[in-house]
Amino acid sequence: MSQHHESTSMRDLLCASLDESHVGRVLSVCGWVAKRREHGEHLAFLDIRDRTGLVQAVVDGSVDVRSEYVVRVTGTVTRRPEGTLNDRLATGRIELTDCTVEVLSAAEPPPFQLDDRVDIDEQVRLRYRFLDLRREQMQRNLRLRAVVNGALRRAMDAQGFCEVETPLLWAPTPEGAREFVVPSRLHPGEFYVLPQSPQIAKQLLMVGGFDRYYQIARCLRDEDLRADRQFEFTQLDLEASFVTQDDVLGFVSRAVLDAAEAVTGVRPGTIPSMTWAEALDRYGTDKPDLRFGMALEDLSEVFVRTEVKAFSATTVKAMRVPGGASFSRSRLDQLTDHAKELGAKGLAWFRITPEGLDSPLARFLNEAESAAIRAVDGAEVGDIVLCVADEHSEACKVLGALRVTLGSPPVSEGPHHYVWITDFPMFEGVDEDGNLQAAHHPFTMPHPDDLDLIETHPLKVRSQAYDLVLNGWELGSGSVRIHRADIQSRVFKALGISDEEAESRFGFLLGAFKYGAPPHAGFAVGLDRLAAIFAGEENIREVIAYPKTQSGADLMTGAPKSISERQARDLRLKTAPKG
Ligand code: AMO
Repeated sequence: MSQHHESTSMRDLLCASLDESHVGRVLSVCGWVAKRREHGEHLAFLDIRDRTGLVQAVVDGSVDVRSEYVVRVTGTVTRRPEGTLNDRLATGRIELTDCTVEVLSAAEPPPFQLDDRVDIDEQVRLRYRFLDLRREQMQRNLRLRAVVNGALRRAMDAQGFCEVETPLLWAPTPEGAREFVVPSRLHPGEFYVLPQSPQIAKQLLMVGGFDRYYQIARCLRDEDLRADRQFEFTQLDLEASFVTQDDVLGFVSRAVLDAAEAVTGVRPGTIPSMTWAEALDRYGTDKPDLRFGMALEDLSEVFVRTEVKAFSATTVKAMRVPGGASFSRSRLDQLTDHAKELGAKGLAWFRITPEGLDSPLARFLNEAESAAIRAVDGAEVGDIVLCVADEHSEACKVLGALRVTLGSPPVSEGPHHYVWITDFPMFEGVDEDGNLQAAHHPFTMPHPDDLDLIETHPLKVRSQAYDLVLNGWELGSGSVRIHRADIQSRVFKALGISDEEAESRFGFLLGAFKYGAPPHAGFAVGLDRLAAIFAGEENIREVIAYPKTQSGADLMTGAPKSISERQARDLRLKTAPKG
């Protein structure tokens, strides 16, 4: 960063940019007093902190400043005396001496120590988020997020996408979560709905001829909060016309890889693809973490005519856990309980020992069966092989979950493994009314080879929907959209959405399509998740300036809060007493 950007009317340089090249010059810095240490009666050391880091100022002991006072310090940059150098500090070879300290504001003692090395209760951090933001971790995370944002924007601009902002006061959107509603003052009794995503708005932009749209878009969903979910979150949202699925994967890959390079300095290789069916079969999940192996193997063929009752099921899936032979019986019992909680009938295990397979089931296996288990994923002595026998999807799901429990490194660890998951099913399960559910959303185009199955075998229909997965997190999703009225009405019918309901929920979109809808497709990347993984954080709260707690509260502002009677009257709202 050049001096030109740093100097203002109040300061010459940012704290961390002072170095030996400045020795002898009288310079001013501004910031907070991070620490004060007395040195004898007449001298004190102050660590001055700004957004770049710390610099030490040697001041007169009579200077009346304490922790977190805001100061302007003018002093001579001096080499530190031999023996007082601090290699852990970027500015550890110099200090400011002969200082004048100007107090710009006094400060009360902070409610917690603003030091990255101390563990602070998160409730306290969020209550005083403005202080928490001064900590190095938050400074680093939000700046990293800004770098990601900038790189994504530049990549989209470079690919000919036009940034368009779409409304927050909007109508229902089809992402399937509960929505936040906003009462209208001018239309009493009526409500706006905050968008779960700009999905419909961006499809209308395609009808509007924009051809390539993107937005760093705020989305709102009233869903249960988790480590990777907030009510409000941000997407890199995009949509393009006259494109295929491959084109969209190309646009998104370019943007995400540019962001990765901007953050890490290294450009990851091309992102591989895997079909949804393959992901499920090999990893038991549609968001496989490819930082580690332990892929599931299918032993169904070997066990087709087995004598072992526990293995008489349509599918037998096996997974090698490296080093797992050392698991104690109680650990194995725990894993078995976990498998049962996940819906399995049981969990079979086989320790690989120099003497052969060690398992309560070992003596019931024939030679071929033993050999097959012994060979799973190149198993070696010291490993354990876990098996689940069940319906195919159930066996994969359970073993896939155990794979994550046993193998998954922390978010902060390991390289970044991206993978595209393609060919998602069009429909998944049924809702309370017995209607099929859209796996992505109702505007997703079925796979062209499966159109004939919509009416006959809907659960077999693949869609042109795709996800981007990074280290086991769903980073984003998208699809090719239906732009033809005939296919859309067949899909609505399969979903049990009547013509009237379609008209009332999405009438304006379907109506617009009658005026010439180009074939189009798009995607949305979850920016909070991307930034969290880059920052090595387990929770997206750590990359959001003012996040909500698990229970949806903003501890700093106190939101959500009751409103005044006057406001309620204006909105014709009857507010129930606080429950
Ligand atoms: P989807 O609903 O899959 O698709 O969302 C896309 C991505 O947004 C992120 N995301 C979230 N991040 C934090 N908190 C949440 N509550 C949250 N919900 C979703 C995830 C997710 O992968 N309109 C479609 C995209 C399209 O088809 O173009 C959509 O929103 O990273």
